[in-house]
Amino acid sequence: MIQLHDLQFEPYISEEEIEGAVEKISARLNADYKDQNPIFIGVLNGSFMFASEVIKRFKGDCEVSFVKMGSYEGTSTTGTVKTLVGLNQKVEGRKVVILEDIVDTGNTLEEINKILEAENVADYKVATLFFKPEAYKKSLSIAYIGIEIPDKFIVGYGLDYDGLGRNLTQVYKRKE
Ligand code: IMP
Ligand code: MG
Repeated sequence: MIQLHDLQFEPYISEEEIEGAVEKISARLNADYKDQNPIFIGVLNGSFMFASEVIKRFKGDCEVSFVKMGSYEGTSTTGTVKTLVGLNQKVEGRKVVILEDIVDTGNTLEEINKILEAENVADYKVATLFFKPEAYKKSLSIAYIGIEIPDKFIVGYGLDYDGLGRNLTQVYKRKE
């Protein structure tokens, strides 16, 4: 059990399970983007660890960029997604892979979709380490999903509770 600010969290997803999910997504990306010089766009802050692990495993040319979005306060979404740092790289005509830590309501994804639609990319797909199907309210398809979880609040492996917990190498869920 761990404590972050006022809340307690218990172990939920092990390092081994996370690594297995990363390996699976990476194998598919290596097959699907072989010789295509994709641009990986990580969504900060939460995706830094996942992005690093996936990009390390990509064999062949690729480029890396990040955008920074924010919507969460405490343990719930505010419903408004702010673009804190936008895309500062030309992606026109390129194959883009969005790397997300977790897709929850899908609000963030929709905002990113708007950004990319204006950029005339060749195509883009989304890879997310975690996905909460019960919370997802959008219809944008998610090509690569690591681990599906129930609608619970989790921390670790890049995900935070009010800034804390990102450094944890396994995932914890809020204790009920
Ligand atoms: P969405 O816009 O509702 O899909 O939420 C996406 C963003 O909210 C994610 O990229 C995370 O940064 C954050 N988020 C969603 N669920 C959790 C959670 O369980 N723990 C920590 N952050 C979360
Ligand atoms: Mg995120």
